[in-house]
Parts: sequence; structure tokens; C-alpha cells
Amino acid sequence: MRQLLSLSRAARLVGVARGALQQKIRSGELASFDGMVSGGDLLRIYPEIKLESDAGFERVAKIKEEAFGKRVREHLLPDREILAQRLFEQSRELADLRAHLQRYHAMVVQLRERLRQEETQGADTVRKSAAKLGELLDRDLEAVLGGTEAPNALTVMDDMLRVMSAHVVVRPSRHEFFVDGADTILDAALRSGLALNYGCSNGNCGLCKARVVSGQVQKVRHQDYVLSEAEKQQGYTLMCSHTAVGDLVIEALESVEAGDIPPQQIVAQVKAMQALGDDLMLLHLQTPRTNRLRFLAGQNLTLTTGAASAQLPIASCPCDDRNLHFHVVRNAQDGFAQRVFDSLKPGDAVTLFGPWGDFVLRADSSRSIVFVACDTGFAPIKSLVEHAMALEASERLHLYWLATRPAGHYLANLCRSWADALDNFSYVPITAEHADAQELVRRIGADHANLNAFDIYLAGPEAFVRTVTMALREQGFPEAQLAAAIA
Ligand code: FES
Repeated sequence: MRQLLSLSRAARLVGVARGALQQKIRSGELASFDGMVSGGDLLRIYPEIKLESDAGFERVAKIKEEAFGKRVREHLLPDREILAQRLFEQSRELADLRAHLQRYHAMVVQLRERLRQEETQGADTVRKSAAKLGELLDRDLEAVLGGTEAPNALTVMDDMLRVMSAHVVVRPSRHEFFVDGADTILDAALRSGLALNYGCSNGNCGLCKARVVSGQVQKVRHQDYVLSEAEKQQGYTLMCSHTAVGDLVIEALESVEAGDIPPQQIVAQVKAMQALGDDLMLLHLQTPRTNRLRFLAGQNLTLTTGAASAQLPIASCPCDDRNLHFHVVRNAQDGFAQRVFDSLKPGDAVTLFGPWGDFVLRADSSRSIVFVACDTGFAPIKSLVEHAMALEASERLHLYWLATRPAGHYLANLCRSWADALDNFSYVPITAEHADAQELVRRIGADHANLNAFDIYLAGPEAFVRTVTMALREQGFPEAQLAAAIA
């Protein structure tokens, strides 16, 4: 029987991005059966998969861990109860299979007996045919029962993966993700870069309601919100307080564009501040556990402390919605920046209002992406890069970062660690006192002969964004595949 795997599961097993498998499907290298791929085809394309080596997967896990902070380092194993339930489900599957095999075995034994009877009692022609069939059956049975074929590596890894994590498919989008460790369904979806609907993330508002189409969920966190009897009957659950026991199909609302997310006002605390250079500060804010910020990568927030206020791009990923990063430039004309450099300290309150802006990843695109940042335009680009990595939907990601000041690549180590850890990511730092848009576009064009097959996200000072946009237009780059932000 052909072993079919969903694209997410297949990508996880061979340690590549889903986008890489989608590209192989588009090029005809890998056959797709209604969105699934066969284990045999996968092994043909990635013959190096071995049970004892899962390096690709580990590399991706490592980069995610480093990029998305402490929350990702929570338990990798599900809690004991969930683990027991998953093992119980697998044991039941095995018991079904064993019962099936026993029935087949009994059928074969009966058939052999019948053939023996025909060999001795049947008419001449029947006796000869029965003897021949009996011989064939004995030979094939010997081959099957005496076979020493090694177990299929993919099957074994897949079985192990099923115990460690549950696979979730969202309808109607058909997005997929895995629930690892003690995660709720909502946390796991956010970490995978999905923008499912939610509000308090604390069991109070009911906005994360989803209908379970198939599979089983279990409550792992307290909830105050009460589902109606009708909702319970229809299979509704709260994603922020439940985890998946096994593989799951759910119906849930998702944000596809910036306008889907309402503005929120949250009082956060300064968690940390780190100088990224003489005139640049990384401001790390943390929202209360019970009131997290819903946003899309690449969006801005209005930050207010005392009388000072500023609108800044969020430099972190929505997959870690409690921990928000901002890159603040020292500026004597900017009251908020002055406050950050002069008196703000860990523990201080900062009011957040937003999110704003539509510089977000295109939800409907699986094209490879070129990110272009100039100076602190890197902040929203960093958020997009981390989100794109979490989504794993693009085959390749390329980052060009132009610095117009010395030491302007202020998070170069992070970019290099992305490039080291991910096969599908490249990083090109460029230093130039004066940004030459034409030269930059020529350089990107030289690196990617088929640039029109990419999406481009561009962020930086206004003059830079304007000139690069014009240069791209002049060479006929499709307008719909370009998104730009002044930052
Ligand atoms: S997000 Fe409010 S109840 Fe789940």
C-alpha cells in the first residue's frame, strides 16, 4: 500500500522547508496526490534519510529556538497524560493491524487446505491446477514470512513523530502545523506563523473558538469562557486552552490581511534594553501573559511612555506575541527616543496601541522572497524574515542589507546564524555610504536571473525606498510582487 504523507509531515521528516517540496511538485520531480506525497517518492528524492540522522530537522529546530526566544524552549515532550493517550491510540492502531493480519493468515491457511483437498479429490485438470497454485502459494508465503527487509526509515520516523507531536490541518485554508510539547493549539499555530483568530489567549473571550472536524482535543489550561450546549454539540473548542491528543482537522478563522486585526491597547513592561551601537537601542517589551498583542509581521505600533510617543516597526515575529522588539535610533528631536536613551529602564511601563500598516507577507504566495533593508529598515524586515521562516512556505529566502554607516549591520551575527542554519537562506551585507539604488537592483538581478519569479519586500529611509522602487519598475518587475515600507 502506498504511504501518503501531508506536505508538512513530509517536510518535517526530511528536514526541508515545505516550500522546497512545493517547488519539486511544481517542477514535476515529486508527484502529488491531492496535496499528499508518497513516502517512496520522498525516499527516492532524499535517499540520504536515515533513522539515526535527522540533522536537517535539528538544524531548523535550532534556528527557530534561537530566533524566537525562551518560549520555544519549553518542553519538547507532551505531558504524561497526552503522551499516554497518543501511545494508547497507536497501540489501538497496532491491535487493529494485528487483528487484520490474523484474519488474512486464517484465510490463507484455509485456502491452502482447500487446495490440498482439490489436489487429492478433484478431477484431473483441477488436481494439476491446485498443485501448481499450492506450490506458488507455499513459495510466496516462504518469501513473505522469511523476509528480512529493513523497516522503512520514513515509516519509523513518522510513527515516532506522531507520538511526539500532533499534526493539525486548518479548514478552509488547508494550512498545517504541528503541536509539540505542552503547547496549546493556539500557541503551536502562532509559532508556525499562522494568524488564527484570538483575543485574550487566556480562556476568557471566546475569540479563539474553532470547530473540531476530526480528532480529539484535551484541556490543558483553565478557561472561564463557557461554550453553549449547541457549540459543544457541534464540536467547538477553545484553541488557547486545549491541545491536540492526536492528528486533528479544525475549522477556524484566520487573518489574511492587516485589516483583519483590530487595534488593541496594552500596557507592556520593559523587559530589557541592549545597545546595538552608539546610537541604536534594542528595546524589548513584554506584554502581560493574559493580554498578548495580535499583529502581523512587518506592522508598526504606537509606543507611549509618559508624554513621549512614537510609531515604530515591530522587529520581532508574531510567533512570539508576548515579546516585542523595537530598534530605537538616538534622535534629539524625538522625545520617545530621548526617553529611551536617557531614563527608560527595565520594569517601566510602555503603552502599546496598534498594530498599524500593511507591510505584511502575502498570504497567498509561495514564491521565493528577496528582502532588501537599508539601515534600520532591517527592523520590519527582521520581523518578516522570522515569520517567513516560521511559515516555511517559500522555497528560498534572500536578505540584502545595505548599511550607510560604519557598523550599520548591527545584527549581522543573527543574519549569519540564519544563513548557517538554513539551507534555503542567504545573507548579503552591503556597505556603501551613499545608497545607489540602480547598483543594488543590478546586483540583485545578477544574483537572480529570474527575479520576476520572486516577491520583494523593501524597507528603509524614504529616498532609498523610492529610488529602489523606481529602479525595479524600470526593469519591469511586477508591481503586485513588491511591498515597501519607510522605516
Ligand atoms: S483567545 Fe480568548 S478565549 Fe481563547
